[in-house]
Amino acid sequence: MNIKTTIGWIGLGRMGIPMSKRLMDEGYPVMVYNRTKGKEEAFTESLFSISSSPAEILKKNEVVVVMVSDDKAIQDIFTGPFGLLSTGVSGKIIINMSTISPDVSKEMALLCNKQGIHYLDAPVSGSVKQAETGTLVVMAGGEEDAFQKVRPILNHLSKLAIRVGANGAGNNAKLAVNTLLGIMSQGLAEVVLFAQQNGIQTEDLLNIINNSAMGNVYLKIKGDAILNDNFQAAFALKHIAKDLRLAKQSGLKSPLGTTILKTFQEAEAEYGEEDIIAVIKKLEKE
Ligand SMILES: NC(=O)c1ccc[n+]([C@@H]2O[C@H](COP(=O)([O-])OP(=O)(O)OC[C@H]3O[C@@H](n4cnc5c(N)ncnc54)[C@H](OP(=O)(O)O)[C@@H]3O)[C@@H](O)[C@H]2O)c1
Repeated sequence: MNIKTTIGWIGLGRMGIPMSKRLMDEGYPVMVYNRTKGKEEAFTESLFSISSSPAEILKKNEVVVVMVSDDKAIQDIFTGPFGLLSTGVSGKIIINMSTISPDVSKEMALLCNKQGIHYLDAPVSGSVKQAETGTLVVMAGGEEDAFQKVRPILNHLSKLAIRVGANGAGNNAKLAVNTLLGIMSQGLAEVVLFAQQNGIQTEDLLNIINNSAMGNVYLKIKGDAILNDNFQAAFALKHIAKDLRLAKQSGLKSPLGTTILKTFQEAEAEYGEEDIIAVIKKLEKE
């Protein structure tokens, strides 16, 4: 797929804005659509244009990327009035990078295939920073041919783009990865609180963890967030609660999986709009 491929981009949230910007910076003309108007003001690039509906986006672009919240958003965008599937056009490729249920993904893939549209589920690991720097990890499900065609696009967004199987497989891989994310987040929060109870400075504990064999980028970022009392969402807590519910629907019933689902679900009402590591505020109250 050459550099002039026109791309339609649906969803200008925390991830959608930096990801679509990267493609414009790489020279792709990008037509954007967002349900709520005004988010387009984030763009000053000359290669961008605004669309009024998902249907128009699909008609006018060869490849369409969707990056929205959840199953409901995907259903609205694919099957709603002026949705992607209302157009009757064929031969295009839709890349759904949202973290959604594998079953909904398979259903959308079937509907697309009936219309001669190729569908890839291609959720990402990484957050806003990785979206800005093109260092996400993409895990895709769908036909190998379609995956290879859009690989150049995925390469601009990621440091690794890997096809893991048929439609739905990308979503299942993502749910596995995010289960670990939930376990690590709750684990970090629990040990910080435990150390505090025993008179150990949080800064010292984090310094030890970061310099130990367990130190990693994620724990460093979330440790700094705890130290700076900064719970502004990079990855909203409501999204991990959603992902863990989806993992349960996909069969996750392990001891840790069950525990973190309970914790994040309980935390969601109060801290859903804050960052995933705001789970520490919920645990602190227990
Ligand atoms: N943030 C992260 O660190 C991160 C990392 C990896 C993966 N993800 C996943 O990536 C996806 C997007 O995350 P995000 O952080 O960018 O989310 P976000 O900031 O909450 O943005 C959500 C986007 O979805 C749109 N949307 C929601 N419901 C919709 C509906 N019914 N119809 C049409 N559009 C709808 C929103 O449109 P409006 O502006 O109109 O509300 C917005 O553009 C999620 O599946 C998330 O789990 C996020």
